[in-house]
Parts: sequence; structure tokens; C-alpha cells
Amino acid sequence: MSTSVTVIGLGPMGRAMGGAYLDAGYRVTVWNRTASRADELVARGAVRAATVEEALAANEVVVLSLTGYAAMYAVLEPAAAALEGRVLVNLSSDTPENTRAGAVWAARHGARHLTGGVQTPPSGIGSPEFDTFYSGPRDLFERYEDVLKVLTGTDYRGEDPGLAALYYQLQMDLFWTTLTAWLHMLALADANGIKPSEITPYAAGTLGGMGQFLDFYTPRIEAGRHSGDVERISMAVASLDHVVHTTRDSGVDPALPAAVLETFRRGAAEGYEEDSLTRLVEVFGGGAAA
Ligand SMILES: NC(=O)c1ccc[n+]([C@@H]2O[C@H](COP(=O)([O-])OP(=O)(O)OC[C@H]3O[C@@H](n4cnc5c(N)ncnc54)[C@H](OP(=O)(O)O)[C@@H]3O)[C@@H](O)[C@H]2O)c1
Repeated sequence: MSTSVTVIGLGPMGRAMGGAYLDAGYRVTVWNRTASRADELVARGAVRAATVEEALAANEVVVLSLTGYAAMYAVLEPAAAALEGRVLVNLSSDTPENTRAGAVWAARHGARHLTGGVQTPPSGIGSPEFDTFYSGPRDLFERYEDVLKVLTGTDYRGEDPGLAALYYQLQMDLFWTTLTAWLHMLALADANGIKPSEITPYAAGTLGGMGQFLDFYTPRIEAGRHSGDVERISMAVASLDHVVHTTRDSGVDPALPAAVLETFRRGAAEGYEEDSLTRLVEVFGGGAAA
């Protein structure tokens, strides 16, 4: 098994990845557009490649940690002749469609491609309790799983190269909206003289309890059951309307809760007033994917 890797892309994530490989005793070659970002890893023993070609030639396994796939083309296209025989572990975020196209592009240049979606910030790199979604050829994933496990735990989703990106984007859909809701809550609290440290324990309690809601509603959603026996969209409209007014009265931008209220109202206008809020899955355009 390979105990040497190349890491291309040394943002906060790539630097953490290079560090995790060094900690695990790997020989690590690094390249980054802004060369100075490699300094710390080089001081710890990594080899700085002078060119992308040199970085690709150094190792069979090449970990890519770039902003997105456009950056991958920008970096690798001019060095495409050096891709033959490489295994690209692409941990850059992008859409499922773009990752599928990326895998085809890599194959055209004689490289094999694993898509990855890392579910931790840099602080979790090197920790097996966090997971990265992977997809692409199963044999490739299994062959290099030990190398991947240096970074995080692994969660293989299937052969379709877009799957890891899809699962990752699904998680990001939830993550960014939830985090932003908390930031909005802090702004509303602040406008009323309440400090983040005073309100955040309540936020943590609410988020911690979300699992129970998810467990309760998931089988009902899969069964297409949206009866309003626990809560109804009409109640949710009234409740969120109070939030929007409280926000406005406090001089805080109400755009975020107002946008959510708009979707609740759309559900009511489509005739689902008496149904559970879970009906919104359909209002948003999803079916019962059960
Ligand atoms: N940070 C997180 O907490 C986190 C968590 C999970 C997943 N991710 C994902 O992991 C990936 C890397 O994250 P990051 O925070 O390290 O990202 P980042 O700060 O955006 O840095 C990524 C790297 O991309 C390079 N890059 C961007 N555009 C380029 C171009 N046109 N040509 C050449 N190089 C280019 C940057 O080079 P320069 O140094 O020269 O600018 C940098 O090395 C992203 O896809 C991100 O969505 C991040």
C-alpha cells in the first residue's frame, strides 16, 4: 500500500490534509498556486514540487483540495500529459454534474477519479470520528481506503462519481441554512440586548432536540402521510408571522424568516393548511422518494 501522496491545493483543508499525512508517516509532496502556503508543511518535512507536473509525477495518489472543479481544470489542464496512471482523490466541492464531468475528463487523460465530500472543517482532519463521502469505482475506493482513512472515516456511496457530491451538497443544504438561522437569531437577540453566550445554550438545546423531530417525521414522510394531527401549516404560518414581526419591530432584517414564511404561505395557498408542515417536501417539488 502506498505510503506517499501528493496534495495539490493548500487552503486550510489541504494544509490540514498534508499535515495528517505527515503525522501518519507518509512521504508528502505538495503544490499550491500561492507557493508560500506550503512553507509550514515543507518545514515539517513535505517536499515542495516546483511545478504541477513534478507534483503529479511524484506519486500515484494525488489528493486535490481546491475551491471547486474550475480550479482543478485551471491547475491540471496545462499539465494534463502528466495525469496518465494517477489516482485523483478529488476532495474539492462541486455539483454532482460537475464531478461527473470531472471524472470523465480525468479518464480521458488516463487518470482514475474518486469524488470526495469532506464533512468536517480542518480541525477534524486526521480524526476517524468524522466522515468523508466517497463515490466512484468501488475497486479504486477499496484499494486506497487505507490512504483515505488517514484523513477521516470513509462513507462509500456508490459507483456514480456524482453521488459523493450529491450527499455532500445535501448536507450543505441543511448546514448553511441552519447556521444562518442561528446567526439571524443572534442578531435578533443582540438587538434586544441579549448576548450570544446568553442565547446560544437555548439554540443548542433546540438543535439537539431536532433528531427527535426527524425520527418522528421520516417514516410518515416516506409513507406519504402528512396529516395535521401534531401541527398544521396554518399554525406554522401564524407562529412564523410572529417571528417576522418581532424581527421587524427590533430593527433587524426580516428577509430570512420572511422567505421561510413565504414557503409556509405557499403551502397553505395550495390547499394544505390543515396538513403537517412536512407537506412542504412536495410543495418544494420533491416527491415521496420512498
Ligand atoms: N474549509 C472548510 O471548513 C471545509 C470543510 C469541508 C469541505 N471544504 C471544501 O474543501 C475544499 C477546500 O477547502 P478550503 O477551505 O481549503 O478552500 P479554499 O480556501 O478555497 O482553498 C482551496 C485551494 O484552491 C486553490 N485555488 C482556488 N482557485 C484556484 C485557481 N483558479 N487556480 C489554482 N488554485 C486555485 C487555492 O489556491 P491559493 O492558495 O493560491 O489561493 C487554495 O489552495 C473546498 O471545495 C471546500 O468547499 C471545506
